[in-house]
Amino acid sequence: LSSWYAQMRNENPVYYDEEFPLIFGPKGSWQVFCYEDVRRVLSDYSVFSNEYMPKIEENPIGNSFNQTDPPLHGKLRALVSGAFSVEAMRQLEDTVYTQCEGLITKVLNQGEWDIVNDFALPLSASVIAQALGIPPQHFESFNAWTKMVVEGTGFYQGQEGMKNFFLELFEERRMRPQPDLISHLLTENMDPEHIFAHCIILFMAGYETTSTLIGNALFYLSEHETLQDQLHALPGDIPRAINEVLRLRPSALNMYRIAAQDVELKGQWIKKGQFVTAWIGSANRDPSVFPYPNHFDLDRTNFSQILSFGHGIHFCVGAPLARLEARIALEVILRHMKKLKVRENTQLVPATSSTMLSGFKSLPLTFEVRA
Ligand code: HEM
Repeated sequence: LSSWYAQMRNENPVYYDEEFPLIFGPKGSWQVFCYEDVRRVLSDYSVFSNEYMPKIEENPIGNSFNQTDPPLHGKLRALVSGAFSVEAMRQLEDTVYTQCEGLITKVLNQGEWDIVNDFALPLSASVIAQALGIPPQHFESFNAWTKMVVEGTGFYQGQEGMKNFFLELFEERRMRPQPDLISHLLTENMDPEHIFAHCIILFMAGYETTSTLIGNALFYLSEHETLQDQLHALPGDIPRAINEVLRLRPSALNMYRIAAQDVELKGQWIKKGQFVTAWIGSANRDPSVFPYPNHFDLDRTNFSQILSFGHGIHFCVGAPLARLEARIALEVILRHMKKLKVRENTQLVPATSSTMLSGFKSLPLTFEVRA
């Protein structure tokens, strides 16, 4: 994609694509590629609104706080942001270490594993499900529903499956509250539709994105054996390596908005009511902000400008959790394994058919046990 991004930034930085497919149904959207424009589209909420999905019963995501603008957005977001505080992350740390060790122990004597299906997906699912309060036996169904929604193959059916499941779980938690986010939300004065929308957006936004980050990090490491040894020796550098993976291979390649008023970008007039696609993947490689943008560079000092978690009031509420999981995952993997390589003759298949998520369906890696 890097050469396509560069070409678009240079020749067509803002253009309308009539055929561009949006996962929630319609076709046609403006495409925006340069850093300053992408950042503006993501954060200038009075011009680029987040209320772009249909607010209909079959689409609970349309009722989530991601799909609201101020002032409602801030009120709804505040109900969940505590679950991702520094203190909450500190409390989750030991569990994440234990889960990583458990998943790795299972494969250590095999010399080969599929980092996506044997590790990243189960880790990400169990951590987010644990935070929400979803019992482990339902992870597989959640996996299937999530895929239907993010791939657009069953955008509404997938949500229906989750909804029925959650409504039953709410009843159970009302009777027997647990120390989890669902029980906490049930004590707020909210109708079940909104509580459901909170749960579904947290799961949807946090599950495959985090797994993708871990898979993408391992893919990069598998091509750079010396970096594996370097990060094993200096685990303090792992967060910076994760930043570069996020920048170069963002889990969410783009985000949508709808124009709340007519607006001009790079000489093009976007009309009120038209969709806008902000290409995070391109902004992260804009050389005016990241010199030598295609180069993986642990010494960059402007990591805070990376747009992989969005920008402004909708900045990813789960970013601390995603970073925590990825950091611990890399630390534990490199503690036990070395010479990780993509298995020979492997055909790499993208995780989804949608243009929104990047990543691999599976990533078989061979390795040696680190003594
Ligand atoms: C928002 C990316 C992990 C929950 C966002 C946005 C991006 C993003 C780009 C901005 C959306 C917008 O502008 O409309 C990612 C990536 C992740 C990740 C790349 C992993 C590598 C997580 C996790 C959770 C989560 C672990 C929760 C457990 C959310 C929620 C929002 C959001 C609820 C909406 C925030 C709002 O609208 O105020 N994420 N995310 N994300 N993310 Fe994440």
